[in-house]
Amino acid sequence: MSPPVPIVVLVALASVLLALGCGQTDEPVPVGDSFIALGRDFVGFTEWERFAVPGDAIPTGAAPGPAYVYARELPPPGLSRFPVGTMLVKTIEPADLTQWTIHAMVKRSPTFNAEGTVGWEFFELVLTADQAPVILWRGTGPPSGHGYGSVGDPSTIPLVCSDCHAGAWTNDGVLTAELRL
Ligand code: HEC
Repeated sequence: MSPPVPIVVLVALASVLLALGCGQTDEPVPVGDSFIALGRDFVGFTEWERFAVPGDAIPTGAAPGPAYVYARELPPPGLSRFPVGTMLVKTIEPADLTQWTIHAMVKRSPTFNAEGTVGWEFFELVLTADQAPVILWRGTGPPSGHGYGSVGDPSTIPLVCSDCHAGAWTNDGVLTAELRL
């Protein structure tokens, strides 16, 4: 008579099944399907591919200066969507870099921001005096009071990121002419 052995085997089997079960419900999002940008991912963005832009659409309260768009990398040709992990930055650059207005959009996952600019997470950043990027806010759009207004007309209702970017769905939410897919 040797009951302990089968019991041990059963317990081992049960814990393996339990572990498999847990693995299915608690599974982390696989790498490649999702990219959560951190402040450090923006370090050195001024060295990325840069395009001068008209800067007609700028956030209310931005200190005036030339406007640029930076792309960490250009999308491979032939795609209809920017790949997850794509990082784009738009700046307005007065002389003092701590006063720059820095907005960004990062392709976070195919389903993020499904009600707005599908796939994209929006950001505002500032640079410290030693050029370290710090994220002020992030998400599907800005916190209240951080919208865009018509230049020179403070009475207009502020627009949020997706008011303009979701409309550019034929180019996956991206408006800069040089970044056409
Ligand atoms: C009034 C319309 C409008 C609103 C609102 C708007 N944008 Fe844009 N955005 C533009 C235009 C137009 C461009 C193309 C570059 C240019 O001409 O300034 C652009 C470009 C960008 C780019 C570079 C990638 C691209 O699409 O070309 C980023 C990043 C960006 N905007 C972030 C934001 C964020 C973050 C918000 C919300 C806080 C926002 N934008 C709100 C109009 C808008």
